Amino acid sequence: MMKKLWRDGVSHLTPYVPGKPIEEVKRELGLDEVIRLASNENPMGPSPKALESMAAAVKDCWLYPEPSCLELREKLAERYELSAEKIIVGNGADHIITLIGNAYINPGDEVIYCHPTFSSYREITLLMGGKPIEIPTRNDFVTDLKGILHSITNKTKLIFICNPNNPTGTIVDTEELVSFLNQVPESVLVVLDEAYAEYISVGHYRTGIEFVKEGYPVISIRTFSKYFGLAGVRVGYAVAAEKYLKPLQAVKQTFSVNRIAMAGALAALDDINYGERMLLEVNKEKERLTEQLLSFGLDVTDSHANFLFVNMKRDTSELFTKLMHKGVLIRPCGPWKLDTYARITIGTIQQNDTLINALKEIQEATISIK
Ligand SMILES: Cc1ncc(COP(=O)(O)O)c(C=O)c1O
Repeated sequence: MMKKLWRDGVSHLTPYVPGKPIEEVKRELGLDEVIRLASNENPMGPSPKALESMAAAVKDCWLYPEPSCLELREKLAERYELSAEKIIVGNGADHIITLIGNAYINPGDEVIYCHPTFSSYREITLLMGGKPIEIPTRNDFVTDLKGILHSITNKTKLIFICNPNNPTGTIVDTEELVSFLNQVPESVLVVLDEAYAEYISVGHYRTGIEFVKEGYPVISIRTFSKYFGLAGVRVGYAVAAEKYLKPLQAVKQTFSVNRIAMAGALAALDDINYGERMLLEVNKEKERLTEQLLSFGLDVTDSHANFLFVNMKRDTSELFTKLMHKGVLIRPCGPWKLDTYARITIGTIQQNDTLINALKEIQEATISIK
């Protein structure tokens, strides 16, 4: 038998199954129109100014990008009123998660996070030979901060808190988070993955960046993939005290963020009006879609992100196939062992109408068969 050459951690990985590509579904099913409400992208796309800026940056593509992303870090620093040294930019938030794992997880280290949540925490922990400790969310699908605190041992290295949580869309109570952070031992680093933070609609809500400014041992992860609609060019960043970012800088590949992506992110940050208009639209559609789904007798969890977590009250892998044949892609939550749940991205008005009509047709067909 051939000797295994790869690292032990590699054998434990389950490859991430991304949302099915639109082109593949069109080709396989002979459909002209397919909408993807499965990957929490921003279907309205980025600011036109970001598009313009990226197009202009293409002519310089023969030049390596500026490796420290200084201009973007400075603009972000201005936005958050902190120093650019407290920011590191990566090739998407997922890259930042990988860098954190590469830099911090030793074999045998315990890494705590809730279940269900974003799969990258588990994958990077296993890859690095760490031990994932998964704490079920509370019954209301909110991250169980008390449960996480009780699970801390002298082997705990990292805690990932996805807030808002993917796939449930829930957020932790802001005061409970403060109390939690005050109780976490100094030897443990808390990573707040705030990929959807811009969608939080609760007043006076404190996010990781504020905690960083207050000196808490916290890394806040952000991305341009969701709110800013730049998932395809890959820009994410982390905000933390310099001492926590130094190890990430040490393991980061020099040119991991390309110059087109940086140009897009810079221009997107400038177009405040576009972002605000788009947020209003998402919130309006979130409310409308929620009402529609509730009227079908489904359970919809209160969401603070650009997606809904829905108990469809039927096997969602089967529903996924039926919807796909109607040109609509959603994300069944079977991989999280939540077989009747689906995660549905808030689309444009037209896309949400298509989803609602497709669900109505499927529901009517099911009733008439019965
Ligand atoms: C919670 C969470 N973190 C990180 C990411 C990765 O984002 P990016 O596209 O910036 O890599 C996602 C993407 O879906 C996410 O849901």
